[in-house]
Amino acid sequence: MIIAIDGPAGAGKGTLAQNLVSKYGFRYLDTGALFRAVALCLIKDEYLTKDNLELKAIFYAKNLDFDFTRDFKITLEGIDVTNIIRNPETGAMASKIATIPQVRVNLDEFQKNFAKKYRAKGVILDGRDMGTFIAPDAPVKVFLDCAPEVRAKRRVEQLEGMGQQANYQEILDGIIKRDTTDRTRDVRPMVPAIDSIKINTCENSIDDVVIIVSNYIDSILDKKKETL
Ligand code: C5P
Repeated sequence: MIIAIDGPAGAGKGTLAQNLVSKYGFRYLDTGALFRAVALCLIKDEYLTKDNLELKAIFYAKNLDFDFTRDFKITLEGIDVTNIIRNPETGAMASKIATIPQVRVNLDEFQKNFAKKYRAKGVILDGRDMGTFIAPDAPVKVFLDCAPEVRAKRRVEQLEGMGQQANYQEILDGIIKRDTTDRTRDVRPMVPAIDSIKINTCENSIDDVVIIVSNYIDSILDKKKETL
């Protein structure tokens, strides 16, 4: 079974996914981390210029070796980059390069292969275009949303929890900018799939969100059992 979770930054996609992983033992792919990993390489690239940014982003998206472990870690060329990719600068660069069509195409293969490899036992895909593009046939599609101010506050807490410094206003401005880019870009903009369950995570606690989505997953698993 594929579970597609989409929505803007800080809406709670990762937290929901981690809860579902604990409950069902599904595998988890945080596709934002792929864009962030490419962004990290660009930020670290000494020879990056405005002119070669697009070509380099396309190159990195095609050639990097990513891996996602069962304990929610992402490795890039064998190095654990789970925490380092979380800073706002990397998020901003990720959002910028996510508008380049060939970068997306180059990252599709990894995402689709991951989904194919683990779908039989259950896989959660977390991103912006999971329900609309990567897995349009997913039986469970969820779109989480919440006011930017609440998301910014949560992000500050998350970064501080990882020992990083965080400025609320800067984070909020970054989130609003990223939302605008993600929602209005020409290539695969962030929109809820028509058949997704839409949940406002400002109004619902994480426990409630987990219950809503679990009930939906259980109903599908029950239907599957009936047809066996
Ligand atoms: O989810 P996260 O905030 O880590 O994603 C970073 C950026 O990567 C997003 O702002 C978005 O522009 C891009 N992204 C995307 N499609 C995905 C996942 C992330 O465009 N499936």
